[in-house]
Amino acid sequence: MSKRAVIKAITADEILDSRGNPTVDVTVTLTSGVMVSASVPSGASTGEFEAVELRDGDRTRYGGKGVLKAVKHVNGEIAWALNGMPVDDQRRIDEKLIETDGSDSKSVLGANAILGASLACAKAAAIETGEPLFRYLGGANAHVLPVPMFNVLNGGKHGDDGPDVQEFKLVPLGAPTFREALRYGAETYHALGKVLAEAGASTNVGDEGGYVPQLPSNAAAMDLILKAIERAGYRPGEDIAIGLDPAASSFYKDGRYILARDGKTLTSEQMIDYWSDWVSRYLLVSLEDPLADNDWKGFAALTKALGDRVQVVGDDLFVTNRKFLQRGIDEHCCNSILIKLNQIGTVTETLDTAELAFSAGYTCLVSHRSGETEDTSIADLAVALGCGQIKSGAPARGERVAKYNRLLAIERLLGDDARYAGRSAFRQLQARS
Ligand code: PGA
Ligand code: ZN
Repeated sequence: MSKRAVIKAITADEILDSRGNPTVDVTVTLTSGVMVSASVPSGASTGEFEAVELRDGDRTRYGGKGVLKAVKHVNGEIAWALNGMPVDDQRRIDEKLIETDGSDSKSVLGANAILGASLACAKAAAIETGEPLFRYLGGANAHVLPVPMFNVLNGGKHGDDGPDVQEFKLVPLGAPTFREALRYGAETYHALGKVLAEAGASTNVGDEGGYVPQLPSNAAAMDLILKAIERAGYRPGEDIAIGLDPAASSFYKDGRYILARDGKTLTSEQMIDYWSDWVSRYLLVSLEDPLADNDWKGFAALTKALGDRVQVVGDDLFVTNRKFLQRGIDEHCCNSILIKLNQIGTVTETLDTAELAFSAGYTCLVSHRSGETEDTSIADLAVALGCGQIKSGAPARGERVAKYNRLLAIERLLGDDARYAGRSAFRQLQARS
């Protein structure tokens, strides 16, 4: 066997994300000559307990959002810690990063600095072993292409003047392949543009590429999406179902859910009734953060009421953190978890969280952030986990489509071995039928 490649240099740079805000890009060089970069995304509707994204706070640069401190930490402490380590020992690399930071929240070096280094090492190790990233992370049996959830209508913190609900997603679970799923999604996205224009609504787009129409209610968005699915020639529920991410923390205030578009202020119990009605009416297959991230009691009640009919996903609630997921498992909150690398900050911890989810019978939905880069690692991560689900925004805008295009490439590479997850990704659907 050839000698294990060792980390020779790690450097970072401040680049821009899709919103025009600075983010961290890390380049790893190995003794073998392999050199590769990874860049870090950034959220807007962030969970309270996410790992800390280090920003400079210097108002004279990028309104305080610069990441020069994080860059300096990569070039300094992180490079000193990792230089000389074998690149194919991801767990040791990530343990070293966690130990060098020394805090629970990765606030010392910054989770953006740490994830950039962690992910760049994984990518370098994959190249070194001659494997694509999905196979390096997932092993020889990684062959399941995820169902893409296309966020075609944006609201909340991702679209001013849009609905209160942050994400309305097309879920093309009836497609035979990923390639066809992408076509279903893109055609319906364009049909929705026409349906909105006919209704006199705006077709401007939000942070994740979905339209941001001004509509009289949240339900009005659902009706237009169902119309668009039919207009594009698909059967709602059969070919394309709908998933939602209300990101409810963003409209939760003083113990109440304030749905401005509906002119309603609801208690936790009333909010659960509201979603229960939507699950019955709209063929929802996935419901993420339907309640605020500190409403654990509400989550338990909602999961009890709806968990056998719909996938209930914890995003802000779990922040890809084993500790919060374990609490969710113990208290029967949700039956699924959103997986975002930068919420926890290392590749290893992300894989560990997914492993805990699977062992408890929870599904995993791999996710981008609303502020993205051209890095496509999450596409590989979704195939590596074999979890059958990914969300990367609308089938439009370069930074969103880059991930879907990477999945096309993976599907092509797998050839006859590729299997599209389709309906099987959604356990509750199996139980329903
Ligand atoms: P964020 O949104 O990246 O702004 O947090 C994505 C989500 O809430 O799932
Ligand atoms: Zn979310």
